[in-house]
Amino acid sequence: MTTELSEPGAPADEGREHRATAVAHPNIALIKYWGKRDEQLLIPYVDSLSMTLDVFPTTTTVRLTPGADTDRVALDGSAAVGEQRQRVVAFLGLIRTMAGRAEPADVDTRNSVPTGAGLASSASGFAALALAGASAYGLDLDAIALSRLARRGSASASRSIFGDFAILYAGRGTGSEADRSAYAEPVAVPDFAPAMVIAVVNGGPKLVSSRAAMRRTFDTSPLYRAWASSSAVDLADMRTALRRADLDAVGEIAERNALGMHATMLGARPPVRYFTPATMAVLDAVAGLRAEGVSAYATMDAGPNVKVLCHPEDAARVVTEVGRAAPGSAAVIARCGPGARLRPRVEP
Ligand code: DP6
Repeated sequence: MTTELSEPGAPADEGREHRATAVAHPNIALIKYWGKRDEQLLIPYVDSLSMTLDVFPTTTTVRLTPGADTDRVALDGSAAVGEQRQRVVAFLGLIRTMAGRAEPADVDTRNSVPTGAGLASSASGFAALALAGASAYGLDLDAIALSRLARRGSASASRSIFGDFAILYAGRGTGSEADRSAYAEPVAVPDFAPAMVIAVVNGGPKLVSSRAAMRRTFDTSPLYRAWASSSAVDLADMRTALRRADLDAVGEIAERNALGMHATMLGARPPVRYFTPATMAVLDAVAGLRAEGVSAYATMDAGPNVKVLCHPEDAARVVTEVGRAAPGSAAVIARCGPGARLRPRVEP
């Protein structure tokens, strides 16, 4: 594994011990990924750009178990079942094929964020699993190759390989050309360190998974392609706004891109609607803050929770207004966070 993915003190040969622990953080897209052009390889239809957070990390340990006859997957201390387990097992299969090995593994994953609530747990989850799994199976991948691997678990996970800001390319062509060209890389944004207030209005699992909602939107929404082409313009504008470290421009573009994505879902047959009354109340509060001169902008993913981009010095005020608008909600202030890292082995 490349040293830049290891924390100081992580043994360079940890992978050779057939066990590795990795930590990854969620990322929130400012320009969204929504819709796939290849469902098998998880190739997005549009490019996306995100900010990695410094909150809600996922810690995953992968340990090879040569004597076992099957993989064991634990999520927050309980055995994973159904599709959740299946996705991890399929991902391990991919790593095994790449590594030319056959041993099953024990996977232990700890999330510090509600799973499946549109808070990007699959992004941090598959980024951590890609790094820990690749290391445990002895694969020597650089960060770009790792982002390609993480994409196969969940496309947004490829961006969590990197800290701060990252872009995920939709790539070109089909088959192996698409696979090679759909990867994430860092976007250098000097002098831009906004806050993002994560307003959790409902931490429960969502009713429609992002994967199913994305498929339905792509297949049935007449609004989808219009949003996809305007998203390319949003991305170009976003790059300029980031270069200028212009929070108002970044926020405006992020908000219009996210609301446009949700509009495509409302146009799906049958519609997908993640907004709840509490979501709307928070969106109103954000607009109210702006009317009072506070730079605050909302973005939302596949769930009812709202993420508010703002200057760090305004974050406490945003938290107060969110709490007032949606009693019972919880808000966490995030900043830019690190990319996925191997954790040094703690000797007993
Ligand atoms: C709304 O990456 O969870 O958060 O690739 O099917 O696993 P799969 O989908 P996933 O979708 C994330 C969609 C989004 C926007 C984004 O993160 O870009």
